[in-house]
Amino acid sequence: MTDEKMRLGVCYYPEHWPEERWAIDAARMAEIGLSRVRIGEFAWSRIEPEPGRYDWSWLDRALRTLADAGLGIIFGTPTATPPKWLVDQMPDMIAVDASGKPRKFGSRRHYCFSHRPYRDECARITQAVADRYGKNPAVVAWQTDNEYGCHNTTLSYSDAARDAFRDWLAAKYGDVSALNTAWGNVFWSMEYRSFGEIELPNLTVTEPNPAHVLDFRRFASDEVVSFNKLQANILRAASPGRDIVHNFMGFYNEFDHHDVSADLDVASWDSYPLGFLEMSWMSEAEKIRYARQGHPDISAFHHDLYRGCKDRWWVMEQQPGPVNWAPHNPAPLPGMVRFWTLEALSHGAELVSFFRWRQAAFAQEQMHSGLLRPDASEDGALFEAEQVAGEITALDCAGAAPKRVALIYSYEAQWLFEAQPQGQSFVNLELMFSYYTALRRLGLDVDIVSPDALFDGYAMIVAPSLPIVRPELAVKFAALTCPLLLGPRSGSKTENFAFPDELPPGPLQELLPVKVMRVESLREGIEVTSGDGRITRWLEHIDSEGEPEIAPVLFKSSNRRYLGGWADAALLRQILGRMADEAGLTTCDLPQDIRIRSHGGLRFAFNHGPDTLSLGKILPGTRDYLLGGDDLPPAGVAAWRE
Ligand code: GAL
Repeated sequence: MTDEKMRLGVCYYPEHWPEERWAIDAARMAEIGLSRVRIGEFAWSRIEPEPGRYDWSWLDRALRTLADAGLGIIFGTPTATPPKWLVDQMPDMIAVDASGKPRKFGSRRHYCFSHRPYRDECARITQAVADRYGKNPAVVAWQTDNEYGCHNTTLSYSDAARDAFRDWLAAKYGDVSALNTAWGNVFWSMEYRSFGEIELPNLTVTEPNPAHVLDFRRFASDEVVSFNKLQANILRAASPGRDIVHNFMGFYNEFDHHDVSADLDVASWDSYPLGFLEMSWMSEAEKIRYARQGHPDISAFHHDLYRGCKDRWWVMEQQPGPVNWAPHNPAPLPGMVRFWTLEALSHGAELVSFFRWRQAAFAQEQMHSGLLRPDASEDGALFEAEQVAGEITALDCAGAAPKRVALIYSYEAQWLFEAQPQGQSFVNLELMFSYYTALRRLGLDVDIVSPDALFDGYAMIVAPSLPIVRPELAVKFAALTCPLLLGPRSGSKTENFAFPDELPPGPLQELLPVKVMRVESLREGIEVTSGDGRITRWLEHIDSEGEPEIAPVLFKSSNRRYLGGWADAALLRQILGRMADEAGLTTCDLPQDIRIRSHGGLRFAFNHGPDTLSLGKILPGTRDYLLGGDDLPPAGVAAWRE
């Protein structure tokens, strides 16, 4: 995080609008306080209308027009939308879904990450745009592609993917007998005589070997990483000094975002709070309560997750009004666009960029709102953007938030549990989210970090579930003196997706004396009372030389705890609250709609609910408000100096 003030921007598609509009739009963007504009990411068919024939003229003029208005340009490489002529040239570049069906041309993201000739084409077009604009002073950043994986496109079951997977396996195992042993292929006579015999793990009669699936998921993630790296390297060489960014998505786990971020300067994500709530697992009651505001933790969770991928992070696309892609697409409450922008600021964003400037009148996203309506009249979000631009300028807020709680997030854990859930309600993302919510209801600031992160400086560490604990991680855990919580199924598998020799939690038995003798998954309605709450969904039967701290599932040894079950909100509150006390952190008991967050010397409060609430009652004390006041209305934000 730099000490500069957070900037605002917008996503713009000059190719969608008559050229006479460009200067008018650019001037208005600058006038309302926007300083960044993202362009280009879907424009391949206009940049290169015929193979090898580039048309830069319109783009040169568009860049000049935007630059003349003082806007810094974020240029998206157009590789998410390969044009028809390219697909016809190499029809096998198309991704294939798990049922073996090719994913045809006619929308976007119709490519397979593993197709090497398509990668060559991506390198070529990236080089071309970077050579043309890389040293243009108006270009301040590059976005690689657009939303890797969107529309279920990370996993492809194409011939290209199969061949690349075989190479990946050969490089990993060297010898096919090592692979047979690692995967346990003696089971059901699944042994292979060569890497060339190995197929992708789809269309099997019953479930494929989970070790095979897990390696395929690791491979597919590595393919995204190398695909991104190819572009990042080209851009870095041709456009020195510019930030390289990718826009990640919400609730999306199909590749390791920590690994992709290693090749970026800035992590960014696309925040659609109402759409994500609609698409989520949340209850009907929550979907109704927060329909126009978004769930109190959805945006924040992703802000904290992507800040853990890279300490510099942006919101590349911010919902401005109704979207077009959820089952229902309500309008945000007046004030929410401002609210979401300030919320991102409070989590340390450097930029919030609205999607999109003007609602398209045609094609797939014509029902998606923008700052302007299709007829160019100005919509509510534009005025909120203008208001918040002024507020940010006035707000004196700089420097990173102090480290408090680290919540460990593993993409590999996600893939592992999808490969072998052992109970349909053991959904890793829900588990992660429930811990996040519990911590935030205690008023704690959370950093969501990779298992490879350095844990120095944190007051407490929480790992909701880490099935594979590699030796380096076990060593880091052993060195901790702060409270540490390891949740259910931690240490339950080896790297090769097998039971550890010493039974779960495997290497964690060095840290505390517990052994998991049996596990059960529980249907809704079956539960076990535990402490202040209950265990649902997942219950472990644990042997230990000591008594449980909270029967039957929580065991403690010095600063370490192991929790062998799926704890409900009340039990989580009890355990995490106790840890926070031990860590010397101040907690509170926030109502379901309120969240607080510290940043840059300020403390912010956000009301996500439908009623006005009294901050004075929730957080007693007197304060000089910089934003808002004691009474926090719906969509209300308050801020004060800490
Ligand atoms: C994002 C995508 C944009 C646009 C937007 C609509 O997923 O990056 O191109 O489709 O959603 O909400």
